[in-house]
Amino acid sequence: MTRKLPDFPWDSLADHAARARAHPGGVVDLSIGTPVDPVPDVVRRALGAVADLPGYPTTHGTRALREAVVGALARRYGVDGLDPVAVLPTIGSKELVAWLPTLLGLGPGDVVAFPALAYPTYEVGVKLAGATPVRLADGEPPPEGTRLLWLNSPSNPTGRVRSASSLARAVADAREVGAVVASDECYLSLPWTASPVSVLRPEVSGGRLDGLLAVHSLSKSSNLAGYRAGFVTGDPALVASLLEVRKHAGMIVPRPVQEAMTAALTDDAHVAEQRERYRARRDLLLPALTKAGFAVDHSEAGLYLWSTRDEPAWDTVAWLAERGVLAAPGTFYGPTGDRHVRIALTATDERMATAVERLTT
Ligand SMILES: Cc1ncc(COP(=O)(O)O)c(C=O)c1O
Repeated sequence: MTRKLPDFPWDSLADHAARARAHPGGVVDLSIGTPVDPVPDVVRRALGAVADLPGYPTTHGTRALREAVVGALARRYGVDGLDPVAVLPTIGSKELVAWLPTLLGLGPGDVVAFPALAYPTYEVGVKLAGATPVRLADGEPPPEGTRLLWLNSPSNPTGRVRSASSLARAVADAREVGAVVASDECYLSLPWTASPVSVLRPEVSGGRLDGLLAVHSLSKSSNLAGYRAGFVTGDPALVASLLEVRKHAGMIVPRPVQEAMTAALTDDAHVAEQRERYRARRDLLLPALTKAGFAVDHSEAGLYLWSTRDEPAWDTVAWLAERGVLAAPGTFYGPTGDRHVRIALTATDERMATAVERLTT
């Protein structure tokens, strides 16, 4: 059986990557949002303490992990009243994004809607399930037949933050057509000039969790991309049905990672420290881009500067590659990204200073 999945977009960057790598001062790779700063000590200690765990872990995760999630969402994002039973750890959030339509039992004839400019894995997940993908313009309600609506504020790639009232409208529109709402909140810990809110806040949810899922990742907030650590929570009935399928399918977070996640979710200091590292890099890169003639749109939160030189995206990728800087063309995220590039803040301070120098001299 063959299934038509999109080409893996980063493969098409290979020529530009080669040009950027040939720069005498080396490449500054800002094309992927992969963390470069250390794993927090508190997490390393927790991981190291649990090497001797020969038994199978539970798919639902330890009670301590689920309570740590509930505590972190309350402290960090003002989400109160969650029941630890309605928390489910995931092997990073990408696998959940890719498999959620399938785990919800969606298939041919079902519509899954997501933003016009979006993380590519939403579409991959729809295709894996054999369902129908629909890209929505800003504020556009999901069409009849939509069974799942993805929200993503702060957005990858644009860094756009939706207000609580705009998210509440999206939730109401989804409920109107009977769609589940999955809110991908993996950049919630990185606000710059706007205050993102969780779909689970009462001003968005209307005080009801039915049909709502919040998808979280520790990759960016705690530098744990290498551990594969995420979770989903929200509507207890939906979470229970996901748990049932995931138990059968062996989609289990390794127990040492569960311990590491528990430690990460119990400590907020490292999250603040990491946020300040990214803020400092953003404060250097954004004015350098402006000086070099770029306009930076949205980018109110999250890890990316959504930038344009008012020319086709690939021309901008080429212009940057000649200066040894690698960025992702906006077309990776949807056809309407054709005049933007996505520039990540995930480089060491030394590499970021190099990029700034190349852009401004
Ligand atoms: C919007 C969005 N969702 C989900 C993910 C997946 O993150 P992870 O699998 O590391 O949790 C990413 C990663 O960059 C992302 O940008």
